[in-house]
Amino acid sequence: MTSIRQHEHEYSTGARPVGAATEESAAANVQQMFDSIAPKYDLLNHLLSVGLDRWWWARAAKVFRSTLAQPDARVLDLCCGTGDMTMALMKYRPKGVGEASLLAVDFSHEMLERGKQKFAKHNIVAIEADALHLPFEDGTLALVTSAFGFRNLANYEDGLAELYRVLKPGGQIGILDCNQPEGIVGGLYNLYFKQILPRIGGMISGDREAYRYLPASVERFPRPRRMLEMIHATGFRDASWTGYTFGTAGLYRATKP
Ligand SMILES: C[S@@+](CC[C@H](N)C(=O)[O-])C[C@H]1O[C@@H](n2cnc3c(N)ncnc32)[C@H](O)[C@@H]1O
Repeated sequence: MTSIRQHEHEYSTGARPVGAATEESAAANVQQMFDSIAPKYDLLNHLLSVGLDRWWWARAAKVFRSTLAQPDARVLDLCCGTGDMTMALMKYRPKGVGEASLLAVDFSHEMLERGKQKFAKHNIVAIEADALHLPFEDGTLALVTSAFGFRNLANYEDGLAELYRVLKPGGQIGILDCNQPEGIVGGLYNLYFKQILPRIGGMISGDREAYRYLPASVERFPRPRRMLEMIHATGFRDASWTGYTFGTAGLYRATKP
């Protein structure tokens, strides 16, 4: 049993909420789930991550400060949701950038509406679109980040290929996402993530299934070794993963040659 389950994790190609047999139904299910939890998303995020989320966004954004400091760099925050990663990136954008300081994409209308409230005072362009079909021309972006969003895509290889397509040569990706740690930390993590978090999340959001999906999606998400292989196979170079907070989250970076 264990080996079959490990095999599934190693080769899972995308998120599959319970009951979703195809990529289309998985995407529709994920979209509905985020629409449903959007009103409580920020509260639950800060609560369930015991405030670590803010630190993870800030730490990841800082890594890209030199690209963000270039006024003409087109930067996309993908799966921006309610916009906290986008705002962390904004800190490093110079004043008076022309057309758009940042681009922010999400396919959940309700999440994006909340993001737009944070973006209103800034020159951030919010776009409702699917990460697997981005409304950008080939080779036009300098940086694409995604915080806790990539794991939810219905097909990870197609997601990476789409990022590769829209990036300029020399453009970078920064994928911040959860990770299932190994060893003792893994045991404690499982206890919290699988037993405690779904109860609190379900109670406050009123959507128990969404907070059962969260640990299940992390378990399904490829481990760093496999993700790095997939990033390389897409054509990126210099792929790396930096673990955050005992490996419970981490940042993937890579560059398009
Ligand atoms: C866990 S939230 C993360 C939001 C935000 N980046 C943050 O760090 O708080 C994941 C987001 O990814 C979005 N998402 C998932 N799959 C997507 C897809 N295929 N296209 C666009 N957005 C997607 C969801 O709608 C949701 O808002």
